[in-house]
Amino acid sequence: MSDLLARANAAIEESSPALFSALSPLGRQLVYPPGIPFQAGQARGKKYNATIGQLTDGAGHALRLPSLEAAYAALDEEKRNKALLYSPAAGIPEVRQAWRQRQRAHLEPGASASSLPIVTVGLTHGLSILADLFCAQGSAVAVVEPFWGNYRQTFGVRRGAEILASPAYVDDGEGPRFAADGVARSLGALPEGEPALVVVNLPSNPSGYSLTLAQRDQLRKALVEAAALRPIVAICDDAYAGFVYEEEIPRGSMFWELAGQHPNLIPVKVEGATKELGFFGGRVGFLTFPFAADSAIAEALESKIMDLSRATIGSPVSASQMVVLGALESRTLEEEVEALRQRLAGRYRILRDRLATFDPALGRALPFNSGCFALIELARGLDSEAVRQRLLADHDTGLISIAPNYIRIAHCSVRGEALPELVDRLERGASEVAVAVS
Ligand SMILES: Cc1ncc(COP(=O)(O)O)c(C=O)c1O
Repeated sequence: MSDLLARANAAIEESSPALFSALSPLGRQLVYPPGIPFQAGQARGKKYNATIGQLTDGAGHALRLPSLEAAYAALDEEKRNKALLYSPAAGIPEVRQAWRQRQRAHLEPGASASSLPIVTVGLTHGLSILADLFCAQGSAVAVVEPFWGNYRQTFGVRRGAEILASPAYVDDGEGPRFAADGVARSLGALPEGEPALVVVNLPSNPSGYSLTLAQRDQLRKALVEAAALRPIVAICDDAYAGFVYEEEIPRGSMFWELAGQHPNLIPVKVEGATKELGFFGGRVGFLTFPFAADSAIAEALESKIMDLSRATIGSPVSASQMVVLGALESRTLEEEVEALRQRLAGRYRILRDRLATFDPALGRALPFNSGCFALIELARGLDSEAVRQRLLADHDTGLISIAPNYIRIAHCSVRGEALPELVDRLERGASEVAVAVS
């Protein structure tokens, strides 16, 4: 049990032994983890704050898509009315249809069938639905490490699943490279026939990496091979979809490539307006399965998910669905999203160029090409939490520490011009910690 959990439990037990004894086994496992929101809270007010994966101007203001802002400010009478009434448990039909149209807009003819997306309260809710549907105590969830820490809460803490972590990067002596098929290989140790979940998060958090064409093929083949031995639900967490900054890197979701490849391999698409439309507070996510919208299986899955939603959130939020619908109806939305991508690409290039000269005695930047983040692997012996604390205390700088030795930079929430100075400060803080421990 972590110290934080022990303290929370002790505080409840001391004040009210009766309430403590009434806590469920899950209730006794819960404590707000010292992850990204916790560390971002500690960095609030710092001059350089690259902690959180929100798209901002570097001064805490959201980067707004004009179509979304217009939809927010001026819902027409019909949308205003719908915004005030309950949403159906699976989401408002027009929103689901409009999102589906956007999803399929650039697909080749003959692309896989897909269900009508089900609306969730942000992507986190979509992930937790999948955890409820597919995880029991001890179920395997394969993911590359380091990974978005909330997977641990969603699958591990809440459902008792076992996280099978494989290294995201390997180094055969030629520098670090992304281990494209690591998640598939890590399933090899499981008994044959045992179902498993695999998380495919591209662009990735925390490393800001998307696979090359060859790597996508490698992953697809490895998952098809692994599916010969067991049912695999491949969760395509597309939170950062589209934010890719190198020409040769594909931008589409792996969902479409994994669909229909093997009867035992079932991809599920998790996505939403949170990052794609910069609507972080709106909490509009979507879940899509690779089955025809009017198929019996799609309807049965929808019924199960509606039952779960009824039991947990009641129904998704109507007001923010109406704002998303307004934005999706705008003819200029895709141009605006492209302009946002270009803006983030500018920051990415500045950071990439600066990190190319990162002091190798202190660490190295792992390959990145997309999304909101870059990940620094600190040199052996340098503890990331010590570096983070030093940056907060002495360098007016907030970054995310991922134990034992990774530092995540969220370039999406820092002005491009500020990024070189931010990296200078990281180097200074890290070298001070290095001197202190040597
Ligand atoms: C990889 C990944 N998946 C899911 C989410 C959750 O998205 P939401 O805020 O819509 O719940 C995040 C948020 O940071 C994320 O980084």
